[in-house]
Amino acid sequence: MPAAIIDGKAVAAEIRARVREEAVRLKTTHGLVPGLAVVLVGEDPASQVYVRNKGRQTREAGMESIEHRLPAETSEADLLTLIARLNADPGVHGILVQLPLPDGVRAEAVIDAIDPAKDVDGFHAVNVGRLVTGQSALVPCTPLGCLDLLRRTLGSLAGAEAVVVGRSTIVGKPMAQLLLRESATVTIAHSRTRDLAAVCRRADILVAAVGRPEMLGRDHVRQGATVIDVGINRVSDGSGGERLVGDVDFAAVSEIAGAITPVPGGVGPMTIACLLSNTLRACCRVNGVPEPEGLPS
Ligand code: GUN
Repeated sequence: MPAAIIDGKAVAAEIRARVREEAVRLKTTHGLVPGLAVVLVGEDPASQVYVRNKGRQTREAGMESIEHRLPAETSEADLLTLIARLNADPGVHGILVQLPLPDGVRAEAVIDAIDPAKDVDGFHAVNVGRLVTGQSALVPCTPLGCLDLLRRTLGSLAGAEAVVVGRSTIVGKPMAQLLLRESATVTIAHSRTRDLAAVCRRADILVAAVGRPEMLGRDHVRQGATVIDVGINRVSDGSGGERLVGDVDFAAVSEIAGAITPVPGGVGPMTIACLLSNTLRACCRVNGVPEPEGLPS
């Protein structure tokens, strides 16, 4: 039987609608409008698209979008000055600095300058530490979206064998922590893993976050496994254009998996939905308002 398709696009729309409802409630009952500041340095085309989408979806969710577009030559010191200003601004509840940053600007220095309470990306060392130690944290958006899809597909993840392929700070490592928090048995595989296919075939839950087009195929997937594909890779469509593919060979794997996320329309839309949810949470926390139920956490 072919795999069930996990419709991240539909789930993300549901989350955004729920965020909007809660944003309206915050405004009418507390006079609060959550504000998200997005900082883009330079002109990376993919980053420009992401930032535009973030701004539009933030406004559609009834929140304020504050956008700072800075030239590629911006110095680290100038960026840190802007972050300090955003940290001090009570109308800003979330700060996101789009990565990658141009050469010469250290991403860690910039991220660690963000007030952890406004770190809606969940990249600050304080939030990373809080996640690992089981305290309430702002959690990175892409793995949070993956977790939400897994919970909706499988219910409890306790005892499941989970294999995360990829060890990035943005996806692989926090994904593993979130799965561990759900009591899954977690393996992180990466470019130096021996016999990757055999490791992956152990998985009830396989999360692919390597950034290599269609790298995981039939040999990597156990019959009935749930496959979450984080990859978004542009490849030639063979007739002069481009198409998007994931890190998983969808055509082959969807014949044996139990459930699988497509690319596009799987994990991708969940990232911004979770960013909006994190911004709403950050606004509630700083103002002592109870956090809404039914949103990813
Ligand atoms: N670049 C690619 N993904 C992300 C993300 O989740 N957050 C930020 N800030 N930059 C990114």
